Amino acid sequence: MSVMNGGEGVWKMYWGSLNSYNYAHGIFNNQNPKRGNLFSNECFAKTRDPYWAQLLPDGKIMDFESIPVVGPNVEEYKTLKIHEAYARWFKEHGNVVREVFNGGGSCIHLYHEEDIKEVYKNSPEMPIRSSHQVLARYRRDRPHIFTSVGLGASMGAEWEHLRKMLPRMVEPYDILRSDLEEVTDDLIDALKSDMEENGEVDLIQWLYRWAYESFGVFALYKRLHALTSYGREEADLMIQAADTTNEIIFLTTCNFGDFEEHYKRLIPIQDFYCSTISKHATEVSMDQNVCLLKKMIEKHSDDMQDVVTILQDLFQGAMHTAATTIGIALYHVARHDTIQQKAKEDLKKVLPNKDSRFSEVEGIPSVENIISETMRLNPPTIGNGRITKADTVLGGYFIPEGTMAVLQTQVACQLERNFERPLEFIPERHTRTGSSMLSNMRLIEPFGRGRRSCPGTFFARKQMHMAISKILRNFDISYHHEDIDFINKLHNMPSKPVMFRLKPVED
Ligand code: HEM
Repeated sequence: MSVMNGGEGVWKMYWGSLNSYNYAHGIFNNQNPKRGNLFSNECFAKTRDPYWAQLLPDGKIMDFESIPVVGPNVEEYKTLKIHEAYARWFKEHGNVVREVFNGGGSCIHLYHEEDIKEVYKNSPEMPIRSSHQVLARYRRDRPHIFTSVGLGASMGAEWEHLRKMLPRMVEPYDILRSDLEEVTDDLIDALKSDMEENGEVDLIQWLYRWAYESFGVFALYKRLHALTSYGREEADLMIQAADTTNEIIFLTTCNFGDFEEHYKRLIPIQDFYCSTISKHATEVSMDQNVCLLKKMIEKHSDDMQDVVTILQDLFQGAMHTAATTIGIALYHVARHDTIQQKAKEDLKKVLPNKDSRFSEVEGIPSVENIISETMRLNPPTIGNGRITKADTVLGGYFIPEGTMAVLQTQVACQLERNFERPLEFIPERHTRTGSSMLSNMRLIEPFGRGRRSCPGTFFARKQMHMAISKILRNFDISYHHEDIDFINKLHNMPSKPVMFRLKPVED
C-alpha cells in the first residue's frame, strides 16, 4: 500500500470527519472521560497531515472493525515462525492489521513509523504492555515469596515503584569494567579449548554462558562459573529455563494454547530459576565494593522480596538478548570480508596486541556501526508492545483505549520506503558518509522508547562492544554453512546451533 502526505485540505477534512465520527460515537461529549486525547490543543496545533489522511474513504475515519483481519494462526505459532507471518501480513494488508488469536481476543500490528510514534506518545507516563501475565500468575500464587509481580508484568503504581528501585548502571559498570573484561577473556579461552579440529565452535551457546557469567559479576559480584566445567551444568539449565520462560510468556501473550497447561509447564522451570538466583543472592558478601544488588539493598533493605524479584527479571532480560545480537553481528561479519578487515584494522590501532586491555578503550566506531546495523536488520526482539491508554486514530482507523498494539519495527526496518537496500548488511550506513542510506533511523529502537524502555540498555551496549571487539581481535572468523534460520520466542534466535569457524590470530 503506498502512502503519501496530503495537502492542507485533506487535513481539514480529516478533522471534520473525525469530529463527526466522534459525535456519532458519543466521544465528543463532556461526560466522556476519553475525549481529552483526541481533541487536545496539541492535536489541533499539528501542521502536517498524517500519512493516512489521503487514504480515508470519503474523508472519514474508518472504524475498528474495518481493519484487515488475519488469523487465528496455528502453524506459525507452533513452529515459532510467527515473525514470518508478521512480514507477510504487511505485504498483504498494509500498515495496520488486526490479528485474531486462536484462544480469543486480538491485537493490532503497526508497521508505519507515524503510528508507532503515536502509540508511544499515547502512554507517556506509565506505559503498559500485555506480556508476562503468566509470570505474574506464578508470582501472585506464591505470596510468601513475592510481594509484586515484577518489572515485566506490573502496571501502574506497582511498576513505577519497582522501576524506581533500579539503580543507574553507569557507575557500577565503570567500577566493574576490568572484572567484566576478565569474564570475556575466559570466554576467549573457552572458545579456544572447545574448538573442533577444523576450528568450528557453537559460539552463540558460549555467548549465552558468557552473558550469564557477566551479569553474575555485574549484579552480584560473584563468579557463577558458567564458562568452566564446575558451573556449566547449572548455567546451561538456567539458560534453558530463561529460554522456555520466554517462550511461555510469548505464547500466552498471544493467547495461543491452553493458559493452564502453559502455567503448569512454567512452575518447575520457575521454581528452579528463582531458587537458583535466590541462592546466589543470599551468598553475596556485602562488604565488597559495588554491585547492582548491593546498590539496591543499600536503599531498599526493607523490601528484599522485591529486590530479588527485580534481580530475577534482570537476569531474564540479560541472558539471551545481547548474546544473540553479538552472534548475529559476527555471522554478518564472517560473511563480509571487507567489513571484518576494516574492524580489525581499527581494533589494532587501539588494541596493539591481542592481549591489550579493552577496559581502557572507548568506543571503536567500526564496531559500533556493526552493532547498529545488526540492531536494524536482525534485532533480538521483533519490536515492542503497548496497550493504548486513550482512544486514538492509527493508520486512519479509530483505535479504542485498551487495545493491544504490536509495534513492528523489525519489519519496518526491512522496508525500502525506510532504508536504501534494506536487506543488505551495510554498517557504513551508520557513518556520516553513508547516512543517506539511513533515512528513517527513528525506527531503529531495539530497546524500546520512553519511561519503560529497556533498563539494561547501557550494560548491553557496553558488553556487546567489548565482546565483539575482543573476539575479532583474537580470531579470524568464517562461516561455512547454510543461512541462519530464525525462530521467535519473545526473542529472535537462530533455529539451531550456528557453527562458526575460528582461527586464533598470532599477535
Ligand atoms: C541487546 C540487548 C537488549 C535488547 C535489544 C532489549 C530489548 C528490550 C525491549 C524492547 C524491552 C521493552 C521496552 C519497552 O517496553 O519500551 C526491554 C525490557 C526489559 N529489558 Fe531489555 N533488552 C536487552 C538487554 C537487556 C539486559 C542486558 C537486561 C538486564 C540487565 C534487560 C532487562 C530488561 C527488563 C527487566 C525489561 C522490562 C522493563 C520494564 O518493563 O520496566 N534487557 N528490553
